[in-house]
Amino acid sequence: MATNIVWHQHDVDKSRRAQAKKQQACVIWLTGLSGSGKSTIANLLEKKLAEFNKHTYLLDGDNVRHGLCGDLGFSDKDRVENIRRISEVAKLFVDAGLIVITAFISPFQRDRDYCRNLLDENEFVEVFINTPIEECEKRDPKGLYQKARQGDIKDFTGISSPYEAPVSPEVVLEFTGQSAEESADQLFNLLLEKGFLSHVE
Ligand code: ADX
Repeated sequence: MATNIVWHQHDVDKSRRAQAKKQQACVIWLTGLSGSGKSTIANLLEKKLAEFNKHTYLLDGDNVRHGLCGDLGFSDKDRVENIRRISEVAKLFVDAGLIVITAFISPFQRDRDYCRNLLDENEFVEVFINTPIEECEKRDPKGLYQKARQGDIKDFTGISSPYEAPVSPEVVLEFTGQSAEESADQLFNLLLEKGFLSHVE
């Protein structure tokens, strides 16, 4: 733990950086089971925001685990550390004036609240991708559910490791058989309606 460190207040601040980008910075935090569609929806949402010339950054579970969190596994302790690091990065990106989209299982409410509490009010939008496990398991795009059922992967979310559904998310995307494109449009419209994407025009 570092000591004797003093925080420097810089002259160009968060609101100035966001203003230069004609937007309000925030974190759109997608949470849900593996295979729920988080990454696909996040990618489509980012594309949609790009059409409106918004400045975004997508932090994605599988990608971040190649670098920043490459030393972490899937024990409860490692998942907590995974989300802690991502939360700190997301906060820096918000400080840079960006609209940050995250796509992590982030199974624990306390860890999602950790990120919320790092940010100012209205900067954290918790989005529950509520795709039931039966549907995720049917999709099983990476064959991981099958491996988890066979006992070849331990601590697998929804099978041998818990997933805590959000207590009071800003947005819930229920699965009703819609396509990822429809889900992303739905999310975009809900974010607009609820006022989380100001300056999108
Ligand atoms: S989190 O729980 O720490 O938030 P994260 O979103 O970074 O998880 O990574 C999840 C991805 O890692 C899954 O989509 C899946 O591809 C892969 N994965 C590998 N092992 C596991 C496991 N034991 N539990 C869940 N996901 C796993």
